[in-house]
Amino acid sequence: MEMEKEHRSSHPRLVLVPLRFQGHINPMLQLGSILHSKGFSITVLHTAFNSPIPSNYPEFGFVSIPDNLSEQLISADDLLPFISLLNLNCGVPFQECLAKMVQKQEVENEPSIACIVYDECMYFCDAVAKYVKLPSIVLRTTSASTYLSRNAILQLKAEGVLTSQGSTSQDLVPGLHPLRFKDLPVSKIGTPEIFLQFITNIYKTRTSSAIIWNTNDVLEQPSLQEIQKQCQVGIFPVGPLHEVAPASSSSLIKEDNSCITWLEKQKQNTVLYVSLGSVASVDKKELGETACGLANSKQPFLWVIRPGSVDDQEWKKLLTEGFVEAVGENGCIVKWAPQKEVLAHGAVGGFWTHCGWNSTLESISKGVPMMCKPCFGDQRVNARHVSQVWRIGIQLENMCERGEVERAIKRLMVDKEGKEMRQRAKNLKERIQLDIREGGSSYNYLNKLIELIMSF
Ligand code: UDX
Repeated sequence: MEMEKEHRSSHPRLVLVPLRFQGHINPMLQLGSILHSKGFSITVLHTAFNSPIPSNYPEFGFVSIPDNLSEQLISADDLLPFISLLNLNCGVPFQECLAKMVQKQEVENEPSIACIVYDECMYFCDAVAKYVKLPSIVLRTTSASTYLSRNAILQLKAEGVLTSQGSTSQDLVPGLHPLRFKDLPVSKIGTPEIFLQFITNIYKTRTSSAIIWNTNDVLEQPSLQEIQKQCQVGIFPVGPLHEVAPASSSSLIKEDNSCITWLEKQKQNTVLYVSLGSVASVDKKELGETACGLANSKQPFLWVIRPGSVDDQEWKKLLTEGFVEAVGENGCIVKWAPQKEVLAHGAVGGFWTHCGWNSTLESISKGVPMMCKPCFGDQRVNARHVSQVWRIGIQLENMCERGEVERAIKRLMVDKEGKEMRQRAKNLKERIQLDIREGGSSYNYLNKLIELIMSF
């Protein structure tokens, strides 16, 4: 015990700066938990809206900084201009806050700050870190393949091969197998300039000392090797972070645990879990087709309908049309689920996902095959890898239509094809589990990362 204390006090403090969305807060807090378990003191600097819940992490310090942005829910359509504003607004308060922390640490003899670890979208941190003469490290929360495909967009646009609206072509993108032009994460939001500026900002090599990546060699070794060739600083693929981190919840929405009780009553591998993450929304036609496809499939399902992700009136209409009664005991609907626990449950045999990177990693690490319906951005890249590289899922290519949904559910949950995908998913899960244990590449990278931080 004494040794543990000594070990802890000899380690410095890390300041973590997450982006204020669920898909970004989760990996940052998981990384914080991992580094805390290795003895570091952790302080999370966050903006007020969507702030993490401190009581879930009593061992961390939390400090709020103003971002002067309205506290509204941000839809996918507003994301890029919003991130740009966030970066403009946060630099000064962040710098003031750091200065106070340094002062306090001197007066109160607290552990000194070793470095700042910031989400790739909070790129203002780089300049501040440089100004206050602290080292910084970037955390990349999307896949390595997403990085390569976004870089390819810059190049293809410069060569005039790709227009600002992207492409619907099925042709493969040279050098990015198995991505087709239509899979490239081109944003149709705002002007092309906003998107190009966004990519340049998050991927620009600045003064950071290293890059932590929430992925690993088992999943993305070729992409990671390619990136390492292009990067001047070390890359540390230490993921999947949620598997390495001690279990804890970083959910911003209250999880409805009643679905676990419902899962307990279902047979092994029979339930399709349906969730589109924390940002994507579904239009009225898709909502109706999804509901009918699920009901017609006769497969048990657990469906997360996040408040704000569907039109309220349409949802009420669906309820009065008797959807819930028609489904009966076969379906369970919640506003937000304890997703990692759901995916670990033996009753869950498939995941209908939008392929956000966290959901993709969480499904892979629990050996659950996927039915992919990407909505925007990096999700198309992830979906393509699920279906074509790891071959642990199928992709819904067209508009969501009830017949297509029903057929896809059958392919994944009942047919031989689905069983083979489940087997491959289980094999991949085992390889991931080995990779995060002693001797695995993720494990080794984590140790190297700690050595690097201790050398600052
Ligand atoms: C966003 C982007 O949309 C995504 O494309 C990018 O890869 C990451 O940032 P989001 O859409 O929220 O993320 O998806 P995802 O990355 O899957 O993250 C969602 C998180 O919410 C997951 O960690 C998941 O476990 C959690 N979740 C989701 C719940 O805890 N309960 C739910 O009911 C649904």
